[in-house]
Amino acid sequence: MPNTILTGAQWGDEGKGKIIDFLTDEADIVIRSQGGNNAGHTIVIGGEKYVLHLIPSGILRRSKTCVIGNGVVLDPVALVAEIEGLRKRGVKVDKNLLISDAAHLVMPYHRALDEQREVLKGRNKIGTTKRGIGPAYGDKAARTGLRVCDLIRPEIFKEKLAARIRENNAILKGLGAAPLNGKKILAESLAAAEVLRPFVANTVVYLHKALTAGKSLLFEGAQGTFLDIDHGSYPFVTSSNTTAGGACTGSGVPPHRIDRVLGVMKAYTTRVGEGPFPSEDKGITDALHAMGREFGATTGRPRRCGWFDAVATRFATMVNGIDDLAITNLDGLDAVEKIKVCTAYKLDGKKIDTLPTDPASLARCTPVYTEFPGWMKPTENAKKFSDLPPKARAYVKAISDLTGARLSIVSVGPARSQTIRL
Ligand code: GDP
Ligand code: IMO
Ligand code: MG
Repeated sequence: MPNTILTGAQWGDEGKGKIIDFLTDEADIVIRSQGGNNAGHTIVIGGEKYVLHLIPSGILRRSKTCVIGNGVVLDPVALVAEIEGLRKRGVKVDKNLLISDAAHLVMPYHRALDEQREVLKGRNKIGTTKRGIGPAYGDKAARTGLRVCDLIRPEIFKEKLAARIRENNAILKGLGAAPLNGKKILAESLAAAEVLRPFVANTVVYLHKALTAGKSLLFEGAQGTFLDIDHGSYPFVTSSNTTAGGACTGSGVPPHRIDRVLGVMKAYTTRVGEGPFPSEDKGITDALHAMGREFGATTGRPRRCGWFDAVATRFATMVNGIDDLAITNLDGLDAVEKIKVCTAYKLDGKKIDTLPTDPASLARCTPVYTEFPGWMKPTENAKKFSDLPPKARAYVKAISDLTGARLSIVSVGPARSQTIRL
Protein backbone atom coordinates (compact mmCIF):
# COMPACT_ATOMS: atom_id res chain seq x y z
CA MET A 1 0.00 0.00 0.00
CA PRO A 2 1.28 3.49 -0.77
CA ASN A 3 2.21 5.58 2.30
CA THR A 4 -1.17 6.95 3.31
CA ILE A 5 -2.40 9.66 5.63
CA LEU A 6 -5.91 8.96 6.83
CA THR A 7 -7.68 12.06 8.04
CA GLY A 8 -11.16 12.93 9.30
CA ALA A 9 -12.96 15.22 6.84
CA GLN A 10 -15.59 16.51 9.29
CA TRP A 11 -15.73 17.19 13.05
CA GLY A 12 -14.22 13.91 14.26
CA ASP A 13 -15.78 10.48 14.86
CA GLU A 14 -16.04 9.84 11.13
CA GLY A 15 -15.22 6.15 11.60
CA LYS A 16 -11.45 6.55 11.23
CA GLY A 17 -10.69 3.68 13.62
CA LYS A 18 -12.78 1.25 11.63
CA ILE A 19 -11.18 2.23 8.32
CA ILE A 20 -7.67 2.15 9.81
CA ASP A 21 -8.29 -1.37 11.10
CA PHE A 22 -9.52 -2.40 7.65
CA LEU A 23 -6.54 -0.87 5.81
CA THR A 24 -3.93 -2.06 8.32
CA ASP A 25 -4.13 -5.42 6.58
CA GLU A 26 -2.25 -3.84 3.66
CA ALA A 27 0.18 -1.64 5.66
CA ASP A 28 3.25 -2.46 7.77
CA ILE A 29 3.21 0.33 10.33
CA VAL A 30 0.35 2.44 11.75
CA ILE A 31 1.27 5.79 13.27
CA ARG A 32 -0.61 8.25 15.50
CA SER A 33 0.96 11.67 15.10
CA GLN A 34 -1.27 14.11 16.99
CA GLY A 35 -3.94 14.42 19.64
CA GLY A 36 -4.14 12.42 22.82
CA ASN A 37 -6.72 10.37 24.66
CA ASN A 38 -9.39 12.85 23.64
CA ALA A 39 -9.70 10.48 20.66
CA GLY A 40 -11.97 7.46 20.77
CA HIS A 41 -11.62 5.09 17.83
CA THR A 42 -14.06 2.20 17.68
CA ILE A 43 -13.33 -1.11 16.03
CA VAL A 44 -15.68 -4.07 15.85
CA ILE A 45 -14.31 -7.50 14.97
CA GLY A 46 -16.43 -10.63 15.17
CA GLY A 47 -18.90 -9.00 17.56
CA GLU A 48 -16.11 -7.77 19.89
CA LYS A 49 -15.93 -4.00 20.32
CA TYR A 50 -12.67 -2.18 21.10
CA VAL A 51 -12.33 1.55 21.76
CA LEU A 52 -8.80 2.91 21.38
CA HIS A 53 -7.73 6.29 22.70
CA LEU A 54 -3.95 6.57 22.38
CA ILE A 55 -2.85 3.29 20.85
CA PRO A 56 -3.16 3.16 17.06
CA SER A 57 -6.07 1.13 15.71
CA GLY A 58 -3.58 -1.14 13.91
CA ILE A 59 -2.85 -2.89 17.22
CA LEU A 60 -5.61 -5.42 16.61
CA ARG A 61 -3.59 -7.01 13.81
CA ARG A 62 -0.78 -8.84 15.60
CA SER A 63 1.86 -8.79 12.90
CA LYS A 64 1.80 -5.00 12.40
CA THR A 65 3.78 -2.35 14.25
CA CYS A 66 2.14 0.67 15.87
CA VAL A 67 3.87 3.95 16.62
CA ILE A 68 2.86 6.79 18.93
CA GLY A 69 4.71 9.70 17.34
CA ASN A 70 6.34 12.83 18.71
CA GLY A 71 3.28 14.97 17.96
CA VAL A 72 1.00 13.07 20.32
CA VAL A 73 0.33 14.27 23.86
CA LEU A 74 0.30 11.26 26.09
CA ASP A 75 -1.18 10.72 29.53
CA PRO A 76 1.17 8.03 30.90
CA VAL A 77 -1.28 6.65 33.47
CA ALA A 78 -4.10 6.48 30.91
CA LEU A 79 -1.79 4.82 28.38
CA VAL A 80 -0.78 2.12 30.87
CA ALA A 81 -4.46 1.47 31.62
CA GLU A 82 -5.15 1.16 27.89
CA ILE A 83 -2.26 -1.26 27.37
CA GLU A 84 -3.37 -3.39 30.32
CA GLY A 85 -7.00 -3.33 29.18
CA LEU A 86 -6.01 -4.62 25.74
CA ARG A 87 -3.70 -7.29 27.15
CA LYS A 88 -6.52 -8.57 29.38
CA ARG A 89 -8.57 -9.10 26.25
CA GLY A 90 -5.78 -11.08 24.61
CA VAL A 91 -4.48 -8.31 22.35
CA LYS A 92 -0.72 -8.38 21.89
CA VAL A 93 0.94 -5.17 23.08
CA ASP A 94 4.63 -5.84 23.17
CA LYS A 95 7.37 -5.19 20.65
CA ASN A 96 4.60 -4.19 18.23
CA LEU A 97 4.24 -0.80 19.95
CA LEU A 98 6.77 2.04 19.90
CA ILE A 99 6.40 5.32 21.78
CA SER A 100 8.33 8.43 20.77
CA ASP A 101 10.70 9.72 23.42
CA ALA A 102 9.85 13.24 22.22
CA ALA A 103 6.09 13.00 22.79
CA HIS A 104 4.79 15.43 25.41
CA LEU A 105 3.07 14.27 28.57
CA VAL A 106 -0.42 15.11 29.74
CA MET A 107 -0.24 15.50 33.51
CA PRO A 108 -3.00 15.74 36.15
CA TYR A 109 -2.57 19.53 36.33
CA HIS A 110 -3.40 19.73 32.63
CA ARG A 111 -6.65 17.90 33.25
CA ALA A 112 -7.45 20.12 36.24
CA LEU A 113 -6.73 23.27 34.21
CA ASP A 114 -8.79 22.00 31.27
CA GLU A 115 -11.73 21.55 33.62
CA GLN A 116 -11.27 24.89 35.39
CA ARG A 117 -10.94 26.87 32.17
CA GLU A 118 -14.15 25.35 30.88
CA VAL A 119 -15.93 26.36 34.09
CA LEU A 120 -14.50 29.85 33.75
CA LYS A 121 -15.76 30.15 30.16
CA GLY A 122 -19.30 29.37 31.29
CA ARG A 123 -21.70 29.70 28.37
CA ASN A 124 -18.79 30.10 25.98
CA LYS A 125 -17.17 26.78 26.91
CA ILE A 126 -15.62 24.63 24.16
CA GLY A 127 -17.08 21.38 25.45
CA THR A 128 -13.68 19.70 25.65
CA THR A 129 -13.19 16.07 26.58
CA LYS A 130 -11.51 17.30 29.80
CA ARG A 131 -8.52 15.11 29.06
CA GLY A 132 -6.07 18.01 29.52
CA ILE A 133 -5.25 18.27 25.82
CA GLY A 134 -5.32 22.08 25.45
CA PRO A 135 -3.17 22.80 28.52
CA ALA A 136 -0.67 20.07 27.51
CA TYR A 137 -0.20 21.51 24.01
CA GLY A 138 -0.09 24.93 25.66
CA ASP A 139 2.88 23.84 27.75
CA LYS A 140 4.53 22.38 24.66
CA ALA A 141 4.24 25.71 22.83
CA ALA A 142 5.34 27.61 25.95
CA ARG A 143 8.36 25.28 26.21
CA THR A 144 7.41 24.20 29.70
CA GLY A 145 6.21 20.71 28.81
CA LEU A 146 7.49 17.40 30.16
CA ARG A 147 8.28 14.71 27.63
CA VAL A 148 8.57 10.94 27.52
CA CYS A 149 12.37 11.28 27.57
CA ASP A 150 12.00 13.06 30.94
CA LEU A 151 9.56 10.50 32.30
CA ILE A 152 11.98 7.60 31.89
CA ARG A 153 14.76 9.45 33.76
CA PRO A 154 13.43 9.48 37.35
CA GLU A 155 15.91 11.99 38.80
CA ILE A 156 15.42 14.53 36.03
CA PHE A 157 11.68 13.95 36.02
CA LYS A 158 11.36 14.45 39.77
CA GLU A 159 13.04 17.83 39.57
CA LYS A 160 11.18 19.07 36.50
CA LEU A 161 7.84 17.85 37.85
CA ALA A 162 8.32 19.64 41.17
CA ALA A 163 8.74 22.95 39.34
CA ARG A 164 5.68 22.31 37.20
CA ILE A 165 3.58 21.36 40.23
CA ARG A 166 4.60 24.57 42.03
CA GLU A 167 3.60 26.76 39.11
CA ASN A 168 0.39 24.91 38.28
CA ASN A 169 -0.79 24.72 41.87
CA ALA A 170 -0.40 28.49 42.07
CA ILE A 171 -2.52 28.85 38.92
CA LEU A 172 -5.13 26.39 40.20
CA LYS A 173 -5.28 28.24 43.49
CA GLY A 174 -5.82 31.49 41.62
CA LEU A 175 -8.74 29.86 39.82
CA GLY A 176 -10.24 28.77 43.12
CA ALA A 177 -9.47 25.07 42.59
CA ALA A 178 -7.83 22.64 44.99
CA PRO A 179 -4.05 22.21 44.61
CA LEU A 180 -2.71 18.83 43.50
CA ASN A 181 -0.62 16.41 45.52
CA GLY A 182 2.83 16.44 43.91
CA LYS A 183 4.08 13.34 45.74
CA LYS A 184 1.14 11.26 44.57
CA ILE A 185 1.57 12.47 40.97
CA LEU A 186 5.27 11.64 41.06
CA ALA A 187 4.66 8.13 42.39
CA GLU A 188 1.93 7.38 39.82
CA SER A 189 4.00 8.80 36.96
CA LEU A 190 7.12 6.83 37.87
CA ALA A 191 5.10 3.63 38.16
CA ALA A 192 3.69 4.26 34.68
CA ALA A 193 7.19 5.06 33.41
CA GLU A 194 8.40 1.58 34.30
CA VAL A 195 5.60 -0.03 32.27
CA LEU A 196 6.20 2.30 29.32
CA ARG A 197 10.02 2.21 29.31
CA PRO A 198 10.38 -0.86 27.04
CA PHE A 199 8.26 0.81 24.35
CA VAL A 200 10.19 4.08 24.23
CA ALA A 201 12.31 4.77 21.15
CA ASN A 202 13.47 7.42 18.75
CA THR A 203 10.53 6.79 16.44
CA VAL A 204 11.74 9.28 13.80
CA VAL A 205 14.82 7.13 13.19
CA TYR A 206 12.73 3.96 13.33
CA LEU A 207 10.30 5.28 10.69
CA HIS A 208 13.10 6.41 8.37
CA LYS A 209 14.77 2.99 8.57
CA ALA A 210 11.39 1.41 7.83
CA LEU A 211 10.96 3.67 4.79
CA THR A 212 14.41 2.71 3.53
CA ALA A 213 13.45 -0.94 3.93
CA GLY A 214 10.38 -0.32 1.77
CA LYS A 215 7.78 -0.67 4.52
CA SER A 216 4.43 1.00 4.00
CA LEU A 217 3.14 3.55 6.47
CA LEU A 218 -0.43 4.34 7.44
CA PHE A 219 -0.99 7.52 9.46
CA GLU A 220 -4.04 7.44 11.71
CA GLY A 221 -5.53 10.89 12.08
CA ALA A 222 -7.34 11.76 15.27
CA GLN A 223 -10.17 14.29 15.52
CA GLY A 224 -11.16 15.88 12.21
CA THR A 225 -10.49 18.75 9.83
CA PHE A 226 -12.82 21.22 11.56
CA LEU A 227 -11.25 20.53 14.94
CA ASP A 228 -7.82 21.55 13.58
CA ILE A 229 -6.16 24.31 15.59
CA ASP A 230 -5.38 26.29 12.39
CA HIS A 231 -8.04 25.25 9.91
CA GLY A 232 -10.98 24.33 12.14
CA SER A 233 -13.83 26.37 13.58
CA TYR A 234 -11.58 28.16 16.11
CA PRO A 235 -11.91 28.46 19.08
CA PHE A 236 -14.22 25.41 19.07
CA VAL A 237 -11.38 23.11 18.08
CA THR A 238 -8.80 20.85 19.63
CA SER A 239 -5.19 21.94 20.11
CA SER A 240 -3.32 20.02 17.42
CA ASN A 241 -3.06 19.98 13.63
CA THR A 242 -5.55 17.30 12.77
CA THR A 243 -5.20 17.92 9.03
CA ALA A 244 -2.81 15.98 6.81
CA GLY A 245 0.22 18.22 7.43
CA GLY A 246 0.14 17.29 11.11
CA ALA A 247 1.05 13.72 10.20
CA CYS A 248 4.45 14.85 8.92
CA THR A 249 5.41 17.17 11.77
CA GLY A 250 3.96 14.76 14.31
CA SER A 251 6.00 11.81 13.08
CA GLY A 252 9.14 13.24 11.47
CA VAL A 253 8.26 11.67 8.11
CA PRO A 254 8.83 14.27 5.38
CA PRO A 255 6.02 15.33 3.03
CA HIS A 256 7.64 13.88 -0.10
CA ARG A 257 7.41 10.36 1.38
CA ILE A 258 3.60 10.59 1.53
CA ASP A 259 1.86 9.02 -1.46
CA ARG A 260 -1.78 9.72 -0.82
CA VAL A 261 -4.33 11.17 1.55
CA LEU A 262 -7.54 9.34 2.36
CA GLY A 263 -10.39 11.34 3.84
CA VAL A 264 -12.98 9.62 6.00
CA MET A 265 -16.45 11.12 6.25
CA LYS A 266 -19.84 9.99 7.43
CA ALA A 267 -22.78 9.95 5.00
CA TYR A 268 -24.18 12.63 7.29
CA THR A 269 -22.45 14.95 9.80
CA THR A 270 -21.90 14.80 13.55
CA ARG A 271 -20.20 17.01 16.07
CA VAL A 272 -19.62 16.60 19.79
CA GLY A 273 -18.93 19.64 21.93
CA GLU A 274 -19.88 23.27 21.34
CA GLY A 275 -19.45 25.49 18.30
CA PRO A 276 -21.18 26.34 15.04
CA PHE A 277 -22.63 23.49 12.97
CA PRO A 278 -24.64 24.89 10.01
CA SER A 279 -26.32 21.65 8.86
CA GLU A 280 -27.31 20.50 12.38
CA ASP A 281 -30.80 19.05 12.35
CA LYS A 282 -33.00 17.96 15.21
CA GLY A 283 -34.94 15.40 13.17
CA ILE A 284 -31.88 13.43 12.05
CA THR A 285 -30.31 13.79 15.52
CA ASP A 286 -33.39 12.27 17.17
CA ALA A 287 -33.66 9.52 14.55
CA LEU A 288 -30.01 8.45 14.97
CA HIS A 289 -30.16 8.61 18.76
CA ALA A 290 -33.35 6.53 18.74
CA MET A 291 -31.36 3.86 16.87
CA GLY A 292 -28.82 3.93 19.73
CA ARG A 293 -26.22 5.58 17.49
CA GLU A 294 -24.01 8.63 17.83
CA PHE A 295 -22.95 8.67 21.44
CA GLY A 296 -19.31 9.68 22.04
CA ALA A 297 -16.72 6.89 22.29
CA THR A 298 -14.62 8.85 24.83
CA THR A 299 -17.09 10.79 26.95
CA GLY A 300 -20.41 9.07 26.15
CA ARG A 301 -21.93 12.46 25.31
CA PRO A 302 -24.71 12.44 22.69
CA ARG A 303 -23.30 13.71 19.41
CA ARG A 304 -25.07 16.53 17.61
CA CYS A 305 -26.14 15.32 14.17
CA GLY A 306 -26.99 16.96 10.89
CA TRP A 307 -27.12 16.52 7.14
CA PHE A 308 -24.04 15.98 5.01
CA ASP A 309 -22.25 19.30 4.57
CA ALA A 310 -20.50 19.44 1.21
CA VAL A 311 -19.26 23.00 1.84
CA ALA A 312 -17.25 21.58 4.72
CA THR A 313 -16.00 18.41 3.00
CA ARG A 314 -14.97 20.38 -0.11
CA PHE A 315 -12.79 22.56 2.11
CA ALA A 316 -11.45 19.41 3.80
CA THR A 317 -10.43 18.03 0.40
CA MET A 318 -8.57 21.24 -0.34
CA VAL A 319 -6.72 21.66 2.94
CA ASN A 320 -5.80 17.98 3.36
CA GLY A 321 -5.21 17.21 -0.31
CA ILE A 322 -7.66 14.32 -0.13
CA ASP A 323 -7.25 11.89 -3.05
CA ASP A 324 -9.56 9.10 -1.93
CA LEU A 325 -12.71 9.01 0.14
CA ALA A 326 -14.12 6.51 2.59
CA ILE A 327 -17.80 7.11 3.33
CA THR A 328 -18.99 5.49 6.55
CA ASN A 329 -22.33 5.00 8.26
CA LEU A 330 -24.27 4.87 5.01
CA ASP A 331 -26.65 2.49 6.80
CA GLY A 332 -27.59 5.34 9.17
CA LEU A 333 -29.68 6.79 6.35
CA ASP A 334 -31.42 3.54 5.36
CA ALA A 335 -34.77 4.62 6.77
CA VAL A 336 -34.69 8.29 5.78
CA GLU A 337 -37.21 9.11 3.06
CA LYS A 338 -35.79 12.44 1.94
CA ILE A 339 -32.08 13.06 2.45
CA LYS A 340 -30.75 16.59 2.46
CA VAL A 341 -27.25 17.64 1.45
CA CYS A 342 -25.90 21.09 2.18
CA THR A 343 -24.30 22.45 -1.00
CA ALA A 344 -23.83 26.12 -0.03
CA TYR A 345 -24.44 28.49 2.87
CA LYS A 346 -26.46 31.69 3.04
CA LEU A 347 -24.81 34.39 5.09
CA ASP A 348 -26.71 37.65 5.61
CA GLY A 349 -28.71 37.03 2.44
CA LYS A 350 -25.69 36.17 0.27
CA LYS A 351 -24.91 32.68 -1.04
CA ILE A 352 -21.38 31.52 -0.21
CA ASP A 353 -19.56 28.27 -0.92
CA THR A 354 -16.85 28.30 1.73
CA LEU A 355 -16.82 28.48 5.52
CA PRO A 356 -16.29 31.94 7.00
CA THR A 357 -13.27 32.10 9.33
CA ASP A 358 -15.01 34.22 11.93
CA PRO A 359 -17.06 31.97 14.30
CA ALA A 360 -19.89 34.48 14.68
CA SER A 361 -20.35 34.56 10.88
CA LEU A 362 -20.19 30.76 10.65
CA ALA A 363 -22.85 30.58 13.38
CA ARG A 364 -25.09 32.84 11.25
CA CYS A 365 -24.75 30.66 8.14
CA THR A 366 -27.85 28.79 7.10
CA PRO A 367 -27.59 25.78 4.80
CA VAL A 368 -28.77 25.67 1.19
CA TYR A 369 -29.98 22.12 0.62
CA THR A 370 -30.37 19.76 -2.31
CA GLU A 371 -32.66 16.81 -1.70
CA PHE A 372 -32.01 13.18 -2.56
CA PRO A 373 -34.58 10.38 -2.46
CA GLY A 374 -33.91 7.80 0.26
CA TRP A 375 -33.49 4.13 -0.69
CA MET A 376 -35.58 2.86 2.24
CA LYS A 377 -33.84 -0.53 2.28
CA PRO A 378 -31.21 -2.04 4.61
CA THR A 379 -27.66 -1.79 3.29
CA GLU A 380 -25.83 -3.59 6.12
CA ASN A 381 -25.40 -6.84 4.20
CA ALA A 382 -24.03 -5.33 1.00
CA LYS A 383 -20.65 -6.85 0.11
CA LYS A 384 -20.11 -5.18 -3.25
CA PHE A 385 -20.94 -1.72 -4.53
CA SER A 386 -23.46 -3.30 -6.91
CA ASP A 387 -25.28 -4.85 -3.93
CA LEU A 388 -26.30 -1.36 -2.76
CA PRO A 389 -29.72 -0.02 -3.81
CA PRO A 390 -29.35 2.22 -6.91
CA LYS A 391 -30.47 5.30 -4.92
CA ALA A 392 -27.82 4.64 -2.26
CA ARG A 393 -25.17 4.34 -5.00
CA ALA A 394 -26.36 7.59 -6.54
CA TYR A 395 -26.20 9.29 -3.14
CA VAL A 396 -22.61 8.27 -2.31
CA LYS A 397 -21.49 9.15 -5.84
CA ALA A 398 -23.15 12.56 -5.51
CA ILE A 399 -21.56 13.39 -2.15
CA SER A 400 -18.15 12.24 -3.44
CA ASP A 401 -18.51 14.45 -6.51
CA LEU A 402 -19.55 17.41 -4.37
CA THR A 403 -16.56 16.76 -2.10
CA GLY A 404 -14.23 16.53 -5.07
CA ALA A 405 -12.36 13.27 -4.42
CA ARG A 406 -12.45 9.68 -5.64
CA LEU A 407 -14.82 7.30 -3.85
CA SER A 408 -12.81 4.31 -2.70
CA ILE A 409 -14.52 2.75 0.35
CA VAL A 410 -18.12 2.58 1.53
CA SER A 411 -18.90 1.34 5.03
CA VAL A 412 -22.34 -0.08 5.86
CA GLY A 413 -21.87 -1.20 9.45
CA PRO A 414 -19.39 -1.06 12.32
CA ALA A 415 -17.82 -4.47 11.65
CA ARG A 416 -14.63 -5.09 9.71
CA SER A 417 -16.64 -7.24 7.29
CA GLN A 418 -19.13 -4.46 6.49
CA THR A 419 -16.73 -2.60 4.26
CA ILE A 420 -17.04 -2.23 0.50
CA ARG A 421 -13.98 -1.55 -1.63
CA LEU A 422 -14.50 0.17 -4.96
P1 GDP B 1 -13.48 7.67 14.94
O1 GDP B 1 -13.19 8.51 16.14
O2 GDP B 1 -13.38 8.43 13.67
O3 GDP B 1 -12.65 6.40 14.90
O4 GDP B 1 -14.99 7.22 15.07
P2 GDP B 1 -15.75 6.71 16.40
O5 GDP B 1 -15.33 5.31 16.67
O6 GDP B 1 -15.63 7.69 17.49
O7 GDP B 1 -17.25 6.80 15.93
C1 GDP B 1 -17.69 6.14 14.81
C2 GDP B 1 -18.85 5.23 15.23
O8 GDP B 1 -19.46 4.72 14.08
C3 GDP B 1 -18.38 4.02 16.02
O9 GDP B 1 -19.39 3.63 16.91
C4 GDP B 1 -18.21 2.95 14.93
O10 GDP B 1 -18.33 1.62 15.44
C5 GDP B 1 -19.35 3.30 14.05
N1 GDP B 1 -19.20 2.98 12.63
C6 GDP B 1 -18.16 3.19 11.79
N2 GDP B 1 -18.51 2.91 10.53
C7 GDP B 1 -19.81 2.53 10.59
C8 GDP B 1 -20.78 2.16 9.60
O11 GDP B 1 -20.52 2.14 8.41
N3 GDP B 1 -22.04 1.85 10.06
C9 GDP B 1 -22.37 1.85 11.39
N4 GDP B 1 -23.60 1.49 11.73
N5 GDP B 1 -21.49 2.22 12.32
C10 GDP B 1 -20.25 2.56 11.91
P1 IMO C 1 -11.77 11.28 17.40
O1 IMO C 1 -10.33 10.99 17.12
C1 IMO C 1 -14.86 14.24 18.12
C2 IMO C 1 -13.72 17.77 20.40
C3 IMO C 1 -14.32 17.97 21.77
C4 IMO C 1 -14.38 19.48 21.81
C5 IMO C 1 -13.11 19.89 21.09
C6 IMO C 1 -11.95 20.18 22.02
O2 IMO C 1 -12.45 10.21 18.16
O3 IMO C 1 -12.47 11.68 16.16
P2 IMO C 1 -10.32 18.66 23.46
O4 IMO C 1 -10.61 17.69 24.56
O5 IMO C 1 -9.59 18.07 22.31
O6 IMO C 1 -9.66 19.90 23.95
O7 IMO C 1 -11.77 19.12 22.95
O8 IMO C 1 -12.76 18.80 20.25
N1 IMO C 1 -13.02 16.49 20.19
C7 IMO C 1 -13.51 15.49 19.45
N2 IMO C 1 -14.69 15.37 18.82
N3 IMO C 1 -13.93 13.28 18.00
C8 IMO C 1 -12.73 13.40 18.61
O9 IMO C 1 -11.72 12.53 18.41
C9 IMO C 1 -12.48 14.52 19.41
N4 IMO C 1 -11.44 14.95 20.14
C10 IMO C 1 -11.77 16.17 20.61
O10 IMO C 1 -15.58 17.37 21.90
O11 IMO C 1 -15.47 19.93 21.03
MG1 MG D 1 -14.10 9.05 17.95
